[in-house]
Amino acid sequence: MKIIVTKNYEESCKAVADIIINQVNEKPDSKLGLATGGTAENVYPVIVKAYQKGKVDFSKVSSVNLDEYVGMDPKSPLSYRKNMDDWFFDHVNIDKEKTYVASGLNNMEEEIRLFNEKLYGDKQIDLQLLGVGISGHIGFNEPADFLTAGVHIEDLTESTIQANSRYFDSPADVPKTAITMGIGDILKAKSIVLIATGDHKAEALTQMLMNDEVKTNVPATFLKLHTDTTIVIDKALADKIGYQ
Ligand code: PGA
Repeated sequence: MKIIVTKNYEESCKAVADIIINQVNEKPDSKLGLATGGTAENVYPVIVKAYQKGKVDFSKVSSVNLDEYVGMDPKSPLSYRKNMDDWFFDHVNIDKEKTYVASGLNNMEEEIRLFNEKLYGDKQIDLQLLGVGISGHIGFNEPADFLTAGVHIEDLTESTIQANSRYFDSPADVPKTAITMGIGDILKAKSIVLIATGDHKAEALTQMLMNDEVKTNVPATFLKLHTDTTIVIDKALADKIGYQ
């Protein structure tokens, strides 16, 4: 894994945006794996700004998002489809027909079939963007005795429900299940970039960066098996986990 330590979170967002922009400039028809979440959110405005300055063109780009809550209406402001439209797709020249965020309202058997078609029907994901959960999840692959390789429905852990409740009226309103790329789907991306910030992510980052173990109770440690993964953290987080 390549580790980039930046001055602060804002610089991390710029570093990650640059990786995505360079990917698209080098391969205009890139297939991007995209992520929502509070940490990834601030990467998108940096990319949008670069687009507005004519530094990147998304007209040939396609994308697949990591996950979505089961039962979530794509039109809801809390849906990951709406997040992606608001944060990114509506501000650049990407063809929305070529973007896929799973629908939480569809029959899940049918949606898993469609998700797989989007992942494997044409080409491999060139670059997958990731955040990491307090639980150590990537996508919604939560800590467990075993992980699931392919697209599946995942029960969210209490820590994820608590963490995500900040977007809902109460923890009770947070959906309890999600449809997500599996750990194998994520590892099939040609390259991966993960962004993390904040003391609450220290345990996950310690397990990722400070030992050589791969454990199902910290799914993000599976990124150690991938040949082209970049982890972007800021100095405060690096200091917190003792990474030099
Ligand atoms: P966060 O979520 O950036 O909102 O902490 C990250 C994740 O759960 O993957």
